[in-house]
Amino acid sequence: MHDIGKLALPDSILQKAGPLNAEEWAVVKRHPLVGARILSGSDSDIIQLAEIVALTHHEKWDGSGYPRGLKGEDIPLVGRIVAICDVFDALTVRRPYKPAFPLKKAYSILRESSGSHFDPAVVQAFFAAEAEILRTHCSYGDDSPNRPLTPAIIAASIAHPSSPHLLAVHAQSVDDASSS
Ligand SMILES: [Fe+2]
Repeated sequence: MHDIGKLALPDSILQKAGPLNAEEWAVVKRHPLVGARILSGSDSDIIQLAEIVALTHHEKWDGSGYPRGLKGEDIPLVGRIVAICDVFDALTVRRPYKPAFPLKKAYSILRESSGSHFDPAVVQAFFAAEAEILRTHCSYGDDSPNRPLTPAIIAASIAHPSSPHLLAVHAQSVDDASSS
């Protein structure tokens, strides 16, 4: 729902395989405002929260984001949280213009962006919840039915034994390996 404003973007931009030109980027950068307008005026607490997320999920901790160039704690916390989740998702799934990045590479990009793109405290919280994030990623990611097990997922399942889903994934990988 954070990207509901992309409903206003033409397919020629959404499906473009190559890099966007300046004019196309200007159109893309309108989607937070469009999304917030779509969600505005609701009596529902959750939709009001979604409006804030839609509006602020591309703001950056250092003030270089859009649409308003908010900085630091001027960005609502929900926007700061969705910002890192959105980037993690974008990095780890296949898009028309890029392959899915390995988890290790995605993690390193997120860590490198702490204090510039992302609130350092939110980055810390993200990695503290790594097992749960991986569980969700495996369950709901674009390629989840056929997503190959990666060494990072298997290692995480061993490092976080409290996550039943990851343990099940690990057990399946052991079965697959022993039967092949
Ligand atoms: Fe977005």
